[in-house]
Amino acid sequence: MRSLISILDLSSDEIREIFAQAARLKAERKRWEKLLRGKTLGLLFDKPSLRTRVSFEVGMHQLGGYTLYLGPHEVGLGKRESVKDIARTLSRYLDCLVARVFDHTTIVELAREADIPVINGLSNLFHPCQILSDLFTIMEKREKKLKDIKIAFIGDGSSNMANSWLCAAAQFKINLAIATPQRYEPNAAVLLKTREAGGKSFLRNVCVLRDPVEAVKEADVIYTDTWVSMGQDEERKERKRAFRRFQVNEELLQSAKPDVMVMHCLPLHRGEEITDTVIESPQSIIFDQVENRLHLQKAILLFLLDKKTY
Ligand code: CP
Ligand code: NVA
Repeated sequence: MRSLISILDLSSDEIREIFAQAARLKAERKRWEKLLRGKTLGLLFDKPSLRTRVSFEVGMHQLGGYTLYLGPHEVGLGKRESVKDIARTLSRYLDCLVARVFDHTTIVELAREADIPVINGLSNLFHPCQILSDLFTIMEKREKKLKDIKIAFIGDGSSNMANSWLCAAAQFKINLAIATPQRYEPNAAVLLKTREAGGKSFLRNVCVLRDPVEAVKEADVIYTDTWVSMGQDEERKERKRAFRRFQVNEELLQSAKPDVMVMHCLPLHRGEEITDTVIESPQSIIFDQVENRLHLQKAILLFLLDKKTY
């Protein structure tokens, strides 16, 4: 039995298998509509969500399964009941669980105590479903191999998305430049873990910079995320001040290649981390990312529940 807590839980071959499944599922939706008949997926969410919740619910429905949503007020994760008891209880009813939590240790504990596969639907440290969909989207758009792609991540270098890009850089030898203020550099433990996983090529391919213009040079993708992640509302004012120079705008795009692609995991804040003009520009592939969450997560469910489309 496998869980998906960060993409480092999977080998690069397994990830390629998931991408191939996602492509088949995207091409032929009808053919696979009974694969998860009789299966129930739980969505245990301690934070709000639009994309993750809807794409898992719709994906499960399209595969013939059933989904049960459990929001923050129903369960009281770690408050009304311990994480351990919740994991054990849900294992007796469900076939698979997606959890969205504040503290990463909660998802680790859920996975350890559950007897069913647990999928990280976002924690403060990682967002594996998002990064896998984004890698899949990049591969759809570019003929290049992932190892030949350069990503410029602009903004909060300490966010779950920046951490997830570090994991992707380690797994696929991706060239990654993170432009972020000093205070918001990547989490030291994550950097250590990804550096170990990525070996020598990681040291060559990954850099943390202060200058967004330098970061976007020769980049195939400019990626950004909110400056204020869920659970950081009290820091809103100081974060908006610290990240002012790190906006993805028309001027920054002028320093990049003309065919650079712009990506954002959403939810986005128009006029903060990204401008309206960039969101609406032909370089933006943001809503293709949104769609691919659906196809990719269906492939994750099939992988963890040991079902195949071939
Ligand atoms: N990108 C993403 O995970 O969106 P939600 O927070 O709406 O699920
Ligand atoms: N960094 C953001 C990602 C949202 C999908 C957050 O955690 O709120």
